[in-house]
Amino acid sequence: MPFKNAVVFVTGGAGFIGSAVVRHLLDATDASVVNIDKLTYAASLESIPQAGRGNRYRFVQADIGDAGALRALFEQHRPGYVMNLAAESHVDRSIDGPADFINTNIVGTFTLLQEALRHWSGLGGDEQAAFRFHHVSTDEVHGSLGREGAFNEAAVYAPNSPYAASKAASDHLVRAWRATYALPTILTNCSNNFGPYHFPEKLIPHTIIRSLCGEPLPVYGDGLNVRDWLYVEDHARALTLVLERGAVGATYHIGGRNERTNIEVVRAVCALLDDMRPAAGGPRERQIGFVADRPGHDRRYAIDPSKIERELGWRPAETFESALAKTVRWYLDHEDWWRNILARGYKPVRIGELKGRSPR
Ligand code: NAD
Ligand code: DAU
Repeated sequence: MPFKNAVVFVTGGAGFIGSAVVRHLLDATDASVVNIDKLTYAASLESIPQAGRGNRYRFVQADIGDAGALRALFEQHRPGYVMNLAAESHVDRSIDGPADFINTNIVGTFTLLQEALRHWSGLGGDEQAAFRFHHVSTDEVHGSLGREGAFNEAAVYAPNSPYAASKAASDHLVRAWRATYALPTILTNCSNNFGPYHFPEKLIPHTIIRSLCGEPLPVYGDGLNVRDWLYVEDHARALTLVLERGAVGATYHIGGRNERTNIEVVRAVCALLDDMRPAAGGPRERQIGFVADRPGHDRRYAIDPSKIERELGWRPAETFESALAKTVRWYLDHEDWWRNILARGYKPVRIGELKGRSPR
């Protein structure tokens, strides 16, 4: 199995995608994983059921903006790989309060790059050649598409939300640390993920949970904005493959060629719930309501994944339909997981509307 005797730092490993990466590294490779996570509202350590088994997993609560904590971790564990998934990730939150996005996504990535560079500079020849810093980013850095075309690795940067702008800035830092200091970096930009352990503020879990709670299902604007969906476990496999075999300095765009309008997604979730757990009041589509649009709402995203398919042989294992059915089933079977999040104080209500207010 790959990554024998390797130590992999995964930042943000208690989040949605980070935890899928940690689970995959523990299940399908020989890597030892150090999960470095600040444990913000979006974190959930229950997302890693493997945590108590074996001795290849360590969790450390730390902020990627804390240079001293990072330096001590690099000195203690001497990782061969860093995967940076720690981030503030929700567009609506970035509209109401961009400061955390600037601090973690930009200053945090800068701090992690600096400490990784310091560590890498002190490594010996073979270890230095094998080291990788993998920064995980998003298609949102490219802004909005018209009706035609898809983002590939040459697409321009044109971010429209504070979140997307902060991710774009972090991508540029990674590029500069490669060009200027020769740090062996790799960058990936992925489309919308969905699947188990997705925090309930995001469209698909938001719809499932509000529907199960008998609440209205808010669709922003006309519901015709398009997102390109990928099952999170397919993304985790892609990221691991890129870490193992990706070219230093390269960018890979990751997506499943699953473009859907938001209203299609919400209707598909309703239909699956009706099938798996019929509601007393009849079909759940009656809960759907159109609400005020998101400020700066990007109309369409689509990823052209030809490069990672061609060069690394990656293909998603799931279709959108098979993965959505699995996801809805998972939320029905893991009510304790999301009820815990509600019990901790998360309220699945509308945010990011501005309504004449200034951001915090
Ligand atoms: P998430 O919000 O579910 O998880 C983020 C994790 O990072 C949380 O566990 C949180 O505690 C941790 N974190 C936040 N600030 C931190 C800090 N300063 N120091 C250490 N840890 C910190 O996010 P996600 O959806 O899993 O996204 C992970 C990465 O993938 C992000 O960089 C995001 O931009 C990118 N991405 C997400 C998607 C998507 O659809 N969710 C798609 C493409 C790319
Ligand atoms: O494209 C990748 C990005 O996908 C990631 O970089 C982000 O971290 C991730 O959060 C996601 O961003 P989106 O803004 O696309 O995801 P979100 O789930 O917030 O919204 C998906 C679409 O659904 C978007 O067009 C807004 C809309 N929406 C969202 C919510 C929460 C609704 O119509 N109603 C809702 O209640």
